[in-house]
Formats: sequence, structure tokens, C-alpha cells
Amino acid sequence: MTGYLAAEGFLDDLLTELGKGVREVRERLVLHDGPARDAAWAQNIWFDPVEIPFASVNDAAKALKAIQRNWALYSTTEHRRAALIAEKLPHVSAKPLGFPAPLPNSPLGSWTLLDRDRLLAAARCSSAFPNGEIRFVEDKEGPPSRAYLKLWEALTLLQAWPQPGEPCVDLGSSPGGWTWALARLGAHVVSVDKAPLDPRVEPLAEFRQESAFGIEPFDVDWLFSDVVCYPERLLALVRRWLPHARNLVCTVKFQGKTDHAAARAFASIEGSRLVHLFHNKHELTWALLRRR
Ligand SMILES: C[S@@+](CC[C@H](N)C(=O)[O-])C[C@H]1O[C@@H](n2cnc3c(N)ncnc32)[C@H](O)[C@@H]1O
Repeated sequence: MTGYLAAEGFLDDLLTELGKGVREVRERLVLHDGPARDAAWAQNIWFDPVEIPFASVNDAAKALKAIQRNWALYSTTEHRRAALIAEKLPHVSAKPLGFPAPLPNSPLGSWTLLDRDRLLAAARCSSAFPNGEIRFVEDKEGPPSRAYLKLWEALTLLQAWPQPGEPCVDLGSSPGGWTWALARLGAHVVSVDKAPLDPRVEPLAEFRQESAFGIEPFDVDWLFSDVVCYPERLLALVRRWLPHARNLVCTVKFQGKTDHAAARAFASIEGSRLVHLFHNKHELTWALLRRR
């Protein structure tokens, strides 16, 4: 069995993605038969969860501590009792992350109460952050929008980011959160949008006020796209840039119903990853890294 914690608001999308084999749904936690597999709409995946019967709050905390130090609670029932157990577990730092920064390296497990005297625990999870919630020390002055947080999250999870001087293209860049974040890394940014950039960001990049779809691809280390468009249109754009861009990070945006077929088409591009970031809305982040 594997546990998949749906991104908030996207349980139905996760259930559609997982298909047959759902054993139980507890709030946003889906218990699914079979080995773990990629699931874009899961914010955290619980590998090989085990059921642990216990007699008391102390007993439950002791059982978890005997497995490993760090645990994150995802409470689905018996919330008061779960909180009492959580209080007896070692403190897990919830300090917001700077950017760029390495991922926390100590293993973080997840657990929930199934009822008064049984818990479900997974020592290994896909995310290094409690319930996949990654928070940053925000910059309230520099960037003109909060969109930079999803770029920081994507690059932190990939543990890769543009190096000083590396050529980058940022498509759909206005008002300029991503361009600001990339320029701050010292990258050379060609920033493209039909709408103007915030005047504070414009001097940081080479700005082209035109359609992202009219740009003839050229060789770059990084292609970024946060363009609002149908997923199929983005897919065609990505395919044109693939021979020219070493690394690509793009937001796949959905209007109305989720286009699962388009999501699968992105996920099937060899070597790529498709995830719902904590900072994503009704959208997924697709990334392909080709290290030098
Ligand atoms: C979510 S916003 C981007 C936010 C930006 N990443 C930031 O950090 O501030 C989406 C942008 O896509 C742009 N856009 C929509 N169609 C476009 C097109 N055909 N070419 C270029 N930009 C486009 C919009 O003008 C809008 O600024």
C-alpha cells in the first residue's frame, strides 16, 4: 500500500490520476493498493506505511520514536489525541527556508491516527517538508508579485538553479517575479511578455514586449515559462525549445476542468518531472534537467 496526500483543493484530480485501487480516503490522504508511483497531484507520498496498534499516548510516541526521530502529523481523526502524541515527539524545525538552500537531509516520516488505538506511519516520504508544505523567508520589497515563490520552490526541489552569467529565457514574465528571482542569481535573463514589466524589474533584464509564441528558439541554459495558455499550446512551445534549452521549468495552467491527457503528455517527456508545488494554484510545474 502507498499513501498519497493530495494537494489542498485537488483531491478529485489525484483520485482521477491514481485510478483503480483506492482502498480508503481520509481527508486528503488517499490509501492506494500497490507500490508507489509518480502522482503529480500528490503533495507528499507515504512509502510503505505500516499500521501500529498502541495502548496509550506515551506508547504511541514511543513506537514512533523507536523508528526514527522526525515525524510530521497529518491528522484525519481523533485530533485531540493525535495532538497529544505529537507533543511527545521531538520538535521538527518549521523555520522558513532561504533561497537558494539545500534540502533538509534528515528523514521525515508522516503519521496519522486511524482510530483511538491504531496509527498509520510511513518512515519514508517523498517530501522533506511536513505534509509537503515548503515555506520560504519571503521578500516583501524586491519582487513585484508572489509568483517568485513557486519558482524558488521548483528550483529548491530540483536542487539546481541558474549560475551567474547563464543565459535564461523567462516567457510570460510580467510583472516580473521570476525575472527578479533569476536576475538575483546573476543569470542573464531575456524576459518576454505582451504586458510591460514592473519598472523596478525592467533594468534587471533584457525585456522583449511581444508574444512568447512568436520568439524563434535560441540556445539557452534555462527556459522558464509561466505564460497563461492552454496546456496543448505550451506543449507545442516546449517541443520547439527542447533542442535549444538545456533545462526547462514551465507552469502548466488549467482553465476550468483539468486536462489530464495534456498532463500525461508532459509527464511522458523522457527524464522530466511533473508536480503540483505547494505554491501552485490550478496548475502543475513541469521540469526537465539535463545536467552538463
Ligand atoms: C501568471 S502571469 C506571470 C507572472 C510572472 N511569472 C511573475 O513572476 O511575475 C502570466 C503572464 O502570461 C502573459 N502572457 C499571456 N499570453 C502571453 C503570450 N502569448 N506571450 C507572452 N506572455 C503572455 C500574461 O501577460 C501574464 O503576464
